[in-house]
Amino acid sequence: MFNAKAYSASSATSPLASTTIARRDPTENDVQIEILFCGICHSDLHMARNEWSEFLPTVYPCVPGHEIVGRVTSVGSAVTKFKPGDLAGVGCLVDSDGTCPSCKAGLEQFCPNQVLTYGFPDKHTGGTTYGGYSESIVVDQRFVLHIPANLDLAAAAPLLCAGITTYSPMRHWGVTAGKKVGIVGLGGLGHMGVKFARALGAHTVVFTTSPNKVDDALRLGADEVVLSRDASQMQRHAGSFDFILDAVSADHDINAYINLLTRDGNMTLVGAPEKPLSLVSFGLIVGRRSVSGSPIGGLAETQEMLDFCGTHNIVSDVEVIDIQQVNEAYERLLKADVKYRFSIDMASLKAE
Ligand SMILES: NC(=O)c1ccc[n+]([C@@H]2O[C@H](COP(=O)([O-])OP(=O)(O)OC[C@H]3O[C@@H](n4cnc5c(N)ncnc54)[C@H](OP(=O)(O)O)[C@@H]3O)[C@@H](O)[C@H]2O)c1
Ligand SMILES: [Zn+2]
Ligand SMILES: [Zn+2]
Repeated sequence: MFNAKAYSASSATSPLASTTIARRDPTENDVQIEILFCGICHSDLHMARNEWSEFLPTVYPCVPGHEIVGRVTSVGSAVTKFKPGDLAGVGCLVDSDGTCPSCKAGLEQFCPNQVLTYGFPDKHTGGTTYGGYSESIVVDQRFVLHIPANLDLAAAAPLLCAGITTYSPMRHWGVTAGKKVGIVGLGGLGHMGVKFARALGAHTVVFTTSPNKVDDALRLGADEVVLSRDASQMQRHAGSFDFILDAVSADHDINAYINLLTRDGNMTLVGAPEKPLSLVSFGLIVGRRSVSGSPIGGLAETQEMLDFCGTHNIVSDVEVIDIQQVNEAYERLLKADVKYRFSIDMASLKAE
C-alpha cells in the first residue's frame, strides 16, 4: 500500500476536505495512474451528501470522482493494454465478476457484482473504493480506457461519466438522422446529450429551466430550445418526440414530457433525483409510450464513445477549477450554475 493525497467528505453534512488515503500497490493486472483531471458529476454531490441513502448508502470517508483522466505511471507484469506514459481514463466502474451474462455481453454496468469507483467494498484493501478526487488511482486494466490523443484532457474527463451516460441510451434507442430528440436539463449530462444527438444527426430540442442558457444550447448544437416552465412553448411540441433524455438532478414533473412523446416514443431517465418522481399512467397508455432508465455504459461501449468523440472532436465544455474550490462548485451545481461541467485540475492537490 502507498499513501495518496485526496479530498474526502467525512459525513453527509461536512464539506470536502484534504486527506490522505491508502491505495494498493499495483498487482499484475493493474494500471497505476497519476490523475491529471477529474470531472465533478452531480452524482458526486448526491453521494457525498448521502442523498441516495435508501438505494446506495454512502460509506464515509467518501472520496468522490468518477470522471478520471491521467497518465499511466506503472503497470503490472500481465498488463498488455497500457504502458507507462500512456493516457488513461477511468469511469464509474473499477471491477465486475467478468463471468455473469451481463459481463459476458460486455454490459458490465448491469453486473450484480460490479464495483463502483468510489464507495464500494474494495477486495484489495479490505476497505472502500476511493474515487478520482485524488492524485493517483490503481485500477485493473479491464476498467481502464484509452483517451484519444487529439482531445483536450480537462475537457475529456467528463466523457467518462456524462459522456457515456448520454451516449449509451441514445444508441440503445436508435437515435439517428430523421429522429426528433429532446434533452431535458442543460447541465453536465444534458450538454453532452445535445452534442451526441446532434452528431448522430437527430433534430435536437433542449428543454431548460434557465433562460440564460438558450444561446449556449443553440451553440452546443440544439436546433430548438424550449423554456420548460412556459406551458405554451411546451404545448407546441405535443406528441412529436421519438426520444427524450431526462438528465435533471432534482424533483420535476416528468408527465409534461411524456405528453410530448409520439406513439411508441420513449423517455429515458438518466437523472437520479433524491425524491421519487410521480407518473401519470394515462400519459403512457394513450400513446403506448414508455419510460425507462439507463445507467452509465459498459467498457466496450465507453471505449466506442471515446473513439467517436476523438473522430468527431467532441469534448465537454468545462470550467477548470482547483480542488480547493470543490465545495463552492457543489453549491453552484445546486443552482444549475455550471457551464457545463467542472473539471478539477489535480495539480492543485500538490499544494495540500
Ligand atoms: N444514470 C446514470 O448512470 C447517471 C450518471 C451520471 C449522473 N446521473 C444523474 O444525472 C443527474 C444529472 O447529473 P449532472 O451531473 O448532469 O447534473 P447537473 O450538471 O447539476 O445538471 C442538472 C441540470 O438539471 C436541471 N435542473 C436542476 N434543478 C432542476 C429543477 N428543480 N427542475 C428542473 N430542472 C432542474 C438544470 O438544467 P437547466 O438549467 O437547463 O434547467 C441543471 O443544469 C444527477 O441526478 C446525477 O446523479 C446519472
Ligand atoms: Zn457521474
Ligand atoms: Zn458480471
